[in-house]
Amino acid sequence: MVIPFPHRHLLDISRLSPQDITTVLDLANQYAESNRQPRKKLDKLAGKFVVNLFFEPSTRTRLSFEIAAKRMGADVINVAIEHSSVQKGETLLDMVQSINAMKIDALVIRHKENGVPQFLAPHITGSVINAGDGSHEHPTQALLDALTLRRRKGKLAGLVVAICGDIQHSRVARSNIQLLQKMGAKVRVVAPAMFMPEDAAKLQVDTFDSMEAGFKDADAIMMLRIQHERLSEGEFAMSLKDYHQRYGLNHDKLKYAKPDVIVMHPGPINREVEITAALADDKKYSVILEQIEMGCAVKMAVLDLLLLGNK
Ligand code: CP
Repeated sequence: MVIPFPHRHLLDISRLSPQDITTVLDLANQYAESNRQPRKKLDKLAGKFVVNLFFEPSTRTRLSFEIAAKRMGADVINVAIEHSSVQKGETLLDMVQSINAMKIDALVIRHKENGVPQFLAPHITGSVINAGDGSHEHPTQALLDALTLRRRKGKLAGLVVAICGDIQHSRVARSNIQLLQKMGAKVRVVAPAMFMPEDAAKLQVDTFDSMEAGFKDADAIMMLRIQHERLSEGEFAMSLKDYHQRYGLNHDKLKYAKPDVIVMHPGPINREVEITAALADDKKYSVILEQIEMGCAVKMAVLDLLLLGNK
């Protein structure tokens, strides 16, 4: 069966309608179940070629795209940036046009600059999938977070989700805020002034500088790491110990939220900075590993819809 999906690329959450998001989540939910079967391999994407082009480090996103594509029967090539001709002065556009000339079906790209996947998309015959662009968007992260939330809470509409930490530099926060609001959830951000997004009013989120106020009646708390790679020297003017005391999550601070609150984190986690090791590993609250599991299912659904769906 071909499922209608009116997109060739997945560039950001802002272009997806609530129906598009529901379509991805429903299909991903099916793949989540098939991934729990002893035999996981499918052949739906046999003959398709997916290229992973990661200009920033990644464990979860790159591996889960590779596993998702291979599980569906596609061939996957991981470009080793350090051995590519960008080291000889080739521009990114020339590199990507060269890859496109080899008749690939999908390009999964992560880049430190905002807007790179959107810039490249018109130059690609197949699909471009944004695996994170600067501090702008990380759409598959928001989709896998939504799938985890929906499976745990049975819905998205009406949930109160508190996102806490370095919001200003976080593409995960930006994609999650948009997706959750489109699906009818209430989003709060909790952060010190230096990590509060400059465009908080435009994002239409309630802002809090205290965890106690921000977590009141929260169904889910999403913790974010400090994005040191996007901070200029001296910008983080606080000791990690002080930061942990004020903005680190531990079991004690969960009392501010609903008793059945779940704790989320996109990873990589920095133990004893934004979250205690004890809480990150506590399966009663923490769904961090479940988020990673849902990541594979979401990428299978995205590849299915983009490469096989009706445009
Ligand atoms: N959440 C996430 O994007 O993790 P990676 O940087 O390991 O891909």
